[in-house]
Amino acid sequence: MLAQTYTIKHAKLRQWVDEMAALCKPDQIYWCDGSDEEYNELCQRLVEAGTFIRLNPEKRPNSYLAFSDPSDVARVEDRTFICSINKNDAGPTNNWVDPRDMHATLNKLFDGCMRGRTMYVIPFSMGPVGSSFSMIGVELSDSAYVAVNMKIMTRMGVQVLDALGEDGDYVPCMHTVGAPLEPGQKDVPWPCNPTTKYIVHFPEEPSIWSYGSGYGGNALLGKKCLALRIASAVARREGWMAEHMLIMGVEDPHGQKTYVAAAFPSACGKTNFAMLIPPKEFESYKISTVGDDIAWIRAGDDGYMYAINPEAGFFGVAPGTSYKTNPAAMESCKANSIFTNVALTPDGDVWWEGMTDTPPAEVTDWTGQKWTPDCGRKAAHPNARFTAPIKQCPSFDPEWDNPNGVRIKAIIFGGRRASTVPLVMQAFNWTYGVYMGATIGSEMTAAAFGKLGEVRRDPMAMLPFCGYHMADYFNHWLDMGRKVANPPRVFCVNWFRKDEQGNFMWPGFSQNMRVLKWIVDRANGRAGAVESSIGRMPRYEDLEWKGMEDFTAKDFNKLMSIDRDVWMQELLLHEELFDKLFDKLPKELIFVRQLVMSSLWRSPEHWEMAAEAPYES
Ligand code: GTP
Ligand code: SPV
Ligand code: MN
Repeated sequence: MLAQTYTIKHAKLRQWVDEMAALCKPDQIYWCDGSDEEYNELCQRLVEAGTFIRLNPEKRPNSYLAFSDPSDVARVEDRTFICSINKNDAGPTNNWVDPRDMHATLNKLFDGCMRGRTMYVIPFSMGPVGSSFSMIGVELSDSAYVAVNMKIMTRMGVQVLDALGEDGDYVPCMHTVGAPLEPGQKDVPWPCNPTTKYIVHFPEEPSIWSYGSGYGGNALLGKKCLALRIASAVARREGWMAEHMLIMGVEDPHGQKTYVAAAFPSACGKTNFAMLIPPKEFESYKISTVGDDIAWIRAGDDGYMYAINPEAGFFGVAPGTSYKTNPAAMESCKANSIFTNVALTPDGDVWWEGMTDTPPAEVTDWTGQKWTPDCGRKAAHPNARFTAPIKQCPSFDPEWDNPNGVRIKAIIFGGRRASTVPLVMQAFNWTYGVYMGATIGSEMTAAAFGKLGEVRRDPMAMLPFCGYHMADYFNHWLDMGRKVANPPRVFCVNWFRKDEQGNFMWPGFSQNMRVLKWIVDRANGRAGAVESSIGRMPRYEDLEWKGMEDFTAKDFNKLMSIDRDVWMQELLLHEELFDKLFDKLPKELIFVRQLVMSSLWRSPEHWEMAAEAPYES
């Protein structure tokens, strides 16, 4: 709690907190100072409330586990709103309600919503504190779980109030679990509102109002709400970009370091890729991690783009994470971490599907029930997550704290595609790169709505996170490319292509280093490629195969193959997205599509790497 001796110099902030307290009617107000003592004290309160289970300090020091309400396990896209003044500024891919109507609805919902609870005042900075590229937010929340997670995920506390000074700008972020308590009413371990949820953004104000959920992106408002939806709208006005991207450094054996950013849709491998540990044949390469989820990108004065990760922690998917698939993530959450919806082992540690080869004989599953390997249920929820400080990542890159960011030489788009899309391609130019990003898609996973296997277009992995009209967003991307003399080279990857038997054709994970090396070499003008009608591609001999010799040229060519009819079909599906956005869609994208179509039409029916290369660079 902020010391009695600390005076809030920001009169408007004080006044806003008072006004919001008058609306929400909490029992008390608690100003967070962001200290470790405060963190420990709040965690202790959460243990007493039954929200947290303290994990065995010998196995998992200073760490906690929370089980959420079974109805509150993920972001709620259908309850997420972009309330711009004009409907056409939100565009057809966002839910929209007139801001006046929405404010009226929210004012009713928030009236008395924090009764019986404490209102935490959480000042946080996205990006280095005090940097002119950072954004400050103040979240008012009735969840201590949110306060402690925000301490890990952002730079949070008194230093932010200092940076705000007397009249600094901040984004007001209102959050309630939407479960007021009557006098004497006993609380539940995970309060939330099972029937009413609203995740609302007012991009012009800007402000954020979140009602009814305590989970992840719904409640930790610095992340998706501020750093993506609000920031993307602000970025468009100010001429920069807020993207759903990881940022990583690749240092080659000569010590040359190249930074790349990559956009993959949710649960498609950003965390994995951001902390990739190269196979031993690439030992002389060093990978460093700047971020795993969000990148803010600006045009530098030197003609290059620069990116920062505005976050300070990982909110990573737990299931599937193991010392085999992602040792750096395992190390990151070894201590000082919060786990949500994973299973609890009898010795007070955590477990989830895929963490070990053999499951434990018995655990308590995420719903609090006894679980055994043959019980037919999952021990951890598929969207179970760990919250861990980025500084604990073994590949942590100290440039993370550089307010100017790192120079981005390549941007990689990727999705989860069982068919059609080859392992890797390079865009012919920035405009084509924007087309590639605009048309990426992912097959539905169990966690998303829709038919399993159906492709959902997720432009730049931003479909759920773009705070304005998607076609204006494409235009903004095209503009950004014109702002710099050396825009990043753009690539598209697919780790998920499957063969006729349904097996992954590419081993993925650490082996992705082979693709990354080619990308970095291309970005530095050092690697070979051939041209196909849909992009530049490496031949077998352009990739390093040392240590993976059993993967033959034939295997590779199959993984890279382009079927003309399948791609014609794919381009028709691109048109479906474009049709939805037609009134504001940049002409460039329409022409690029036509160009690709006509060149595909003249290409061999089935294009394989082994075929004569029409062009070489
Ligand atoms: P958000 O945090 O939701 O934005 O997602 P993210 O992109 O960080 O997702 P994450 O890294 O947690 O993705 C996890 C899923 O991708 C797991 O199912 C992994 O097994 C899978 N995955 C990651 N890398 C690879 C890969 O190279 N090959 C294959 N086949 N699967 C992968
Ligand atoms: C995502 O869904 O892309 C996430 C998790 O990174 S959450 O923060 O919950 O949105
Ligand atoms: Mn994400």
